[in-house]
Amino acid sequence: MSAATVTSRSPQDRDDVVVELPAADESRCASAFTTAREAAKEWAGRHATVRATALTQAAGAVEQAADELVDLIVREVGKPLTEAQMEVTRAVNILRYHAQAALDPDGETYPAAPPADTRTLLMSRRRPRGVAGLITPWNFPIAIPLWKAAPALAYGNTVVLKPSSEAIAVATRVAELLTAHLPDGVFQVVGGGGETGRAVIERADAVSFTGSTEVGMQVAMEAAGRGIPAQCEMGGQNASIVLPDADPAAAAKVIAGAAMGYAGQKCTATSRVIAVGDGSELTDALVAAVEALPVGDPADEATVVGPVITEPARDDVVEAARRAPGDGARVATGGSALDRPGLFVAPTIVDRLPPEARLAQHEVFGPIAGVISARSAEEAVAISNGVPYGLVTSVFTGDLDAALTVAGRLDTGMIRVNQPTSGVDFHAPFGGEKGSSFGPREQGKAAREFYTSTHTITVGPARP
Ligand code: UN1
Repeated sequence: MSAATVTSRSPQDRDDVVVELPAADESRCASAFTTAREAAKEWAGRHATVRATALTQAAGAVEQAADELVDLIVREVGKPLTEAQMEVTRAVNILRYHAQAALDPDGETYPAAPPADTRTLLMSRRRPRGVAGLITPWNFPIAIPLWKAAPALAYGNTVVLKPSSEAIAVATRVAELLTAHLPDGVFQVVGGGGETGRAVIERADAVSFTGSTEVGMQVAMEAAGRGIPAQCEMGGQNASIVLPDADPAAAAKVIAGAAMGYAGQKCTATSRVIAVGDGSELTDALVAAVEALPVGDPADEATVVGPVITEPARDDVVEAARRAPGDGARVATGGSALDRPGLFVAPTIVDRLPPEARLAQHEVFGPIAGVISARSAEEAVAISNGVPYGLVTSVFTGDLDAALTVAGRLDTGMIRVNQPTSGVDFHAPFGGEKGSSFGPREQGKAAREFYTSTHTITVGPARP
């Protein structure tokens, strides 16, 4: 590894260097893991109540620092103020939830089978995996690191976090807040790019990743090569199916927010709007709703669409819009970068999009969505399913039977009725199918499957 640096710049003001740090080289990563492995023995051996208390204290510290964290999130990753506030609240809730989860039953008992004595105690008991390596993106710079770290810590693992370089300042501040309440070496951050990520995968006992499908599949393969468990949350190409009975204006408003909020930079953002029947009213309503979204300075309370994270991200959106007519589609609104400082792109709706067009098949991480027509609910389901991803689909209808029929046929991990595709409940399982997810679900009680393994213990009587 080279003596590289990690630099994060504000997407709304490219001259604003938020932080510049040396990247963790091979020897720094190695020493982080040596320390984490040593700390894991002691941390796992503590009472669960001690770990619960530490996480509760960490929640209090994050809550106390909320305003400062919100400002840093707005500045470093351009997340609009209101969403940044919601994310910090979510982070506090995540820490409190997993503080309590630490006290959940940690195993099960089973009746003994012959020839064992009937007094035999046969049980499975949860135990931590060791050192969890976490590789996290910039778009939820506090919630994602914590929804991985909190359960890892609650169940007695230690953590080495490699955050995205674009969100290194937030991760560093979160680490300061957490480590004040944790023993040395229990939670560490290593900054850097792909090489640092690889150094983490080479040493971790389990690796949890959120990011692109391309990198996530690589992470899963490298983890498999080492025989360690991997959990990867990757891309999405999420659809909102609007059935003919739905109120077009109401559906359009929700979809506009889910497609364009935080400039569409969520794996759960809506990328495809599938209009069943005559979609003209829906398309008009969607264009109107998108054009009404406040675009601008993310520090402004009213802003819904801020900048995108980097220059290549901006160029991807503009390029996708430019290519749409070649696929037989039409740019209904947006399609270009805004003529102002910062990485702003006009929220873009492309209509008449064929389901097989590139924009309908592959994720563009930015404020762009396409409208696709379907003749029937059945065809809408086939279109929704006909992509390499399977994270979340939403269905808009007041017809319960239709909603249940569609929901039963969708192959996404998450299904939402009359709800935006974006938004995640920290206490419910989260994850998708196909190119969207690999490994067990995250969050809620599901997190325990990943951050623990089991001992099956048989205790027989000493005197038969
Ligand atoms: C949300 O929609 O609130 O990286 C969360 C992502 C997802 C999280 C989405 N893993 O965008």
